[in-house]
Amino acid sequence: MKGRAVYPGSFDPITNGHVDIIERGLKIFNEIVIAVLENPKKRPLFATKERVEMIEKIFAGQDNIKIQSFHGLLVQFAKKINAPIVIRGLRAISDFEYEFQMTLMNRKMDPDVETFFMMPSVKYSFLSSKLVKEVSLLGGCLKDLVPPEVEENLKKKLQNNSNITIQ
Ligand code: PNS
Repeated sequence: MKGRAVYPGSFDPITNGHVDIIERGLKIFNEIVIAVLENPKKRPLFATKERVEMIEKIFAGQDNIKIQSFHGLLVQFAKKINAPIVIRGLRAISDFEYEFQMTLMNRKMDPDVETFFMMPSVKYSFLSSKLVKEVSLLGGCLKDLVPPEVEENLKKKLQNNSNITIQ
């Protein structure tokens, strides 16, 4: 077991794939800070506060998980909260190029911040926040793909809202 790591992302919304990575991460790190990106330019479906609150509910009572939102550079945030290891999930080869570029850019900006890649369970290897939003918008079932509170919030947000565009 080793120190504190940060698990950054948009989490718009968090999926069971993210939860799976967090649970795996806790086998390796004592504490994980889930860092929710404030990204108004990406026009997220859920406001930062809503994304944070959903994650807080999912991990309620787990002292080894902290949830914070952040803006600006990830490496600066990681340093500020004393979490020099960034956890990222890799689902498929298609994730690799983006993650590779991001890791090396982060390393260029701060060589003390290391990135630690983990693979989710194969049952989540096709899962993404974007697909989850699309399936929910079109009335599909998300059982086993997102925590129940996320499915409920998706339904509330997307019901009778066919003019929402998923990005
Ligand atoms: O879940 P995502 O959207 O794939 O997460 C991307 C995230 C939040 C890890 C990335 O966009 C990020 O770190 N943003 C913060 C700004 C930053 O540091 N940019 C430089 C990355 S090389």
